[in-house]
Amino acid sequence: MSQTARLTVGDTEVELPVVQGSEGERAVDIRHLRERTGLVTLDPGFANTGSCKSAITFVDGERGVLRYRGIPIEQFEQSPNFVEVAWLLIFGRLPNGEEYDRFSQELTANANLDERMKHHFEGFPRSAPPMAILSAMINTLSCFHPEFFELEDSSQLEQAAARLISKVRTLAAYAYRNSRGLPYMYPNPRLPYVLNFLHMMFSLPYQPYEPPDVVRDALNLLLILHADHEQNCSTSTVRMVGSARANLFASCAAGVCALWGPLHGGANVEVLEMLETIHRGHMTPEEYVALAKGKEKKVRLMGFGHRVYKNFDPRATILRRAAERLFTELGVSDPLLDIARRLEEIALEDPYFVDRRLYPNVDFYSGIILRRLGIPTNMFTVVFAIGRLPGWIAHWREQSLDPDRRIARPRQVYVGETGLRYVPPEQRE
Ligand code: SDX
Repeated sequence: MSQTARLTVGDTEVELPVVQGSEGERAVDIRHLRERTGLVTLDPGFANTGSCKSAITFVDGERGVLRYRGIPIEQFEQSPNFVEVAWLLIFGRLPNGEEYDRFSQELTANANLDERMKHHFEGFPRSAPPMAILSAMINTLSCFHPEFFELEDSSQLEQAAARLISKVRTLAAYAYRNSRGLPYMYPNPRLPYVLNFLHMMFSLPYQPYEPPDVVRDALNLLLILHADHEQNCSTSTVRMVGSARANLFASCAAGVCALWGPLHGGANVEVLEMLETIHRGHMTPEEYVALAKGKEKKVRLMGFGHRVYKNFDPRATILRRAAERLFTELGVSDPLLDIARRLEEIALEDPYFVDRRLYPNVDFYSGIILRRLGIPTNMFTVVFAIGRLPGWIAHWREQSLDPDRRIARPRQVYVGETGLRYVPPEQRE
């Protein structure tokens, strides 16, 4: 197959190299386009533009495939372990025994916050959005770790990653505890990653929170499924900020801000609100789907559709199974899960969704699981950030090691006024 693309503009014709990825996807390399033709490309939302080469995650939106470092995500479903997947994404392979033990110990040893950081939480209004607190407090964390402003080698990156991945749980839990007027629970060094987070969220000084294994496994799996997704909006943000040589903490804090958007990580909150609106009887699933098809109200069927997946988001399929397993093993039912299933049935038979290839995405079922775990709705996207953090770190590291790395600085097509002159204030209308 041709390894070049020919572009003819007026009298100018250029041949551009075509690069091919390890899964066969191909791209026209346009890095010399402007210098050779004077042209730039225009691609709103970068739907057709590859920003980099990456070996971390592969997504095939047509076939509904998602692989972390070459491993299909379905293979993490049986005995989900978020810590080993975090290592896999960041360092490129599953950890051996020594690496796993060392990283786990680093996570345990670094779960606590500097006592001075606790006062920051009291400075926020009780109603402060947890994502605002999280992004602020990740940057605050960097003030206590100036040694990580410049990461010289893999060992330093591992230590910085361990601090971020460990402390993000504590930051999230303390933001929640402060909003409820509850005492902070110190991390318990005897608990593994997910159980320690749930302990800090829900234990009381006189009453430890000890959930069943099915809860531990559900949250491990949910974090794994959120851990990375190639060049999504928040990961591209982390890369963009990191490309300026901003430190890892600042780059991840920026990722939190991007993830907060309701079209991105904030969708899981919107899904729950949508399901609760229907559950409260304000409208039937059929009426809501009809509303989402109309354009006047800008209502969308939240948790449906995806820029890349034009087939089932494999994460949604796994999360639906996990939700059913969780409710069965807990011996409970949830009307919202029934409503979600009904919405899915209706949409998948409706030409509006079928023709646009809109299927359930990762957010469609995740909120139902989080709600059952007791996580409040306004903390859903924070849990998404806890899951996505290893992916952000992996991409920040991959970019920092890339010999081709340059500061990200896209071009534009200017369409504003031309040839105007300055008008002194007294002459203005
Ligand atoms: C995540 O990129 C990632 O990988 C993200 C993510 C990750 O892991 O990082 O996977 C996580 O962000 C998942 C997506 C969560 N967002 C939502 O669930 C919000 C609802 N979905 C959409 O708003 C939308 O589908 C997007 C934002 C996800 C994708 O938007 P696109 O690719 O820009 O598509 P579009 O907005 O141009 O829509 C194309 C058409 C439009 O209709 P027409 O103009 O053709 O008539 O599809 C319609 C849209 O109105 N459409 C929907 C819809 N999603 C798209 N109509 C109703 N309900 C929806 N959910």
